[in-house]
Amino acid sequence: MSTWITICDTCKREGWENGAMDLTDGERLAALVEAQVDGAGTVRTRRQSCLMGCGKGCNVAIQAAGKLCYTLGDFTPDETAAAAIATYAKLHAASDTGQVPYRQWPDGVKGHFVTRHPPLPTEE
Ligand code: FES
Repeated sequence: MSTWITICDTCKREGWENGAMDLTDGERLAALVEAQVDGAGTVRTRRQSCLMGCGKGCNVAIQAAGKLCYTLGDFTPDETAAAAIATYAKLHAASDTGQVPYRQWPDGVKGHFVTRHPPLPTEE
C-alpha cells in the first residue's frame, strides 16, 4: 500500500510577492519532493490546490489507507525540506500503523506537524 504525499501547489509564503513570482512556493516544493521520491515505489505524490492551511505554508499531507495520517506545514520550498518530507513518507510507508518513532524522524520535519488523523473505522 502506498503512502501519498499531497503537496499544496498554491501555497505562498510571506514575501513571495517580492520574488520572481513565476511559480508559487508550493509549486517549487512540489517539484523538489517529486524529484526526491521518483521511483521510490511505496511513496507517491500528488498536488492539490489548497489544503486550507494557507497561513502556515508550505503545507503537505502524508496519507495512507488504514494508517495514521498527518498534515505538516511551515516548510520553506528547498531541498532540505523536500528530502525530510520524502524520508518521513518512506518511514510512514514502512510502518504498519503510520506511526513513526520520534527517534527516526528526520530533523527537517520536527516542529512542522500540524494535525494527526486516525484512520477511519471500518464499516460493517
Ligand atoms: S494555499 Fe496552500 S494551504 Fe491554502
